[in-house]
Amino acid sequence: MLNITVLVSGGGTNLQAILDWVRETPDGNVKIASVISNNYGVRALERAEKAGVPSRVVSPKDFDDRASFHEALLAAVNESEPDLVVLAGFLVSIPSEMVRAYPNRIINIHPSLIPAFCGKGYYGLRVHEAVLARGVRVTGATVHFVDEGTDTGPIILQKPVAVAQDDTPEKLQRRVMEEAEWEILPRAIGLIAAGAVSVRDGRVWIDGANRERIKE
Ligand code: GRF
Repeated sequence: MLNITVLVSGGGTNLQAILDWVRETPDGNVKIASVISNNYGVRALERAEKAGVPSRVVSPKDFDDRASFHEALLAAVNESEPDLVVLAGFLVSIPSEMVRAYPNRIINIHPSLIPAFCGKGYYGLRVHEAVLARGVRVTGATVHFVDEGTDTGPIILQKPVAVAQDDTPEKLQRRVMEEAEWEILPRAIGLIAAGAVSVRDGRVWIDGANRERIKE
């Protein structure tokens, strides 16, 4: 069984995709041990409660400085004893001590085809605004392991999404979530739970044997 802890900040639609996948995939070998939010009163917490998953808030507002917030966040994650930490719309940068404590055991969903439109300042709607401003024809989403950089860790899965002529940032964000994020994040978790994912020389290898078993 792969125990996962999911970190959220807001709407929790990526969390919902994971909750739905776990419910619909009884042999998926995944258990959501805990949901941790950096914000109070967000929809993601309601989604966790509705699914009967324990949740808690670790908010920077409750700490005098960043260091003590980081310490509390890592303590909360450690308490849930995860095999894998999943950043699902989590908008706080992960402290390096946490990355070091969970090497290649933290994954993130980013709403573009990394290495395009990623890094400092590229999150949420800003990503899609930049995509439209540049006029690219294809965007998409990426699931990657988290390292000490920003959106720089080894890439696990990506899925392209066509940009439409009349797209607004909001329309494009929604389509990237529906057509890409909500599909590849649960799938990446399933592949990791199946022991199909490894990292060699900074690149992700997905075990061929398992590729057949898990629909590409
Ligand atoms: C989405 O754009 C996602 O790509 C980004 O955060 C936004 C909200 O995600 N990581 P969610 O609805 O909170 O899962």
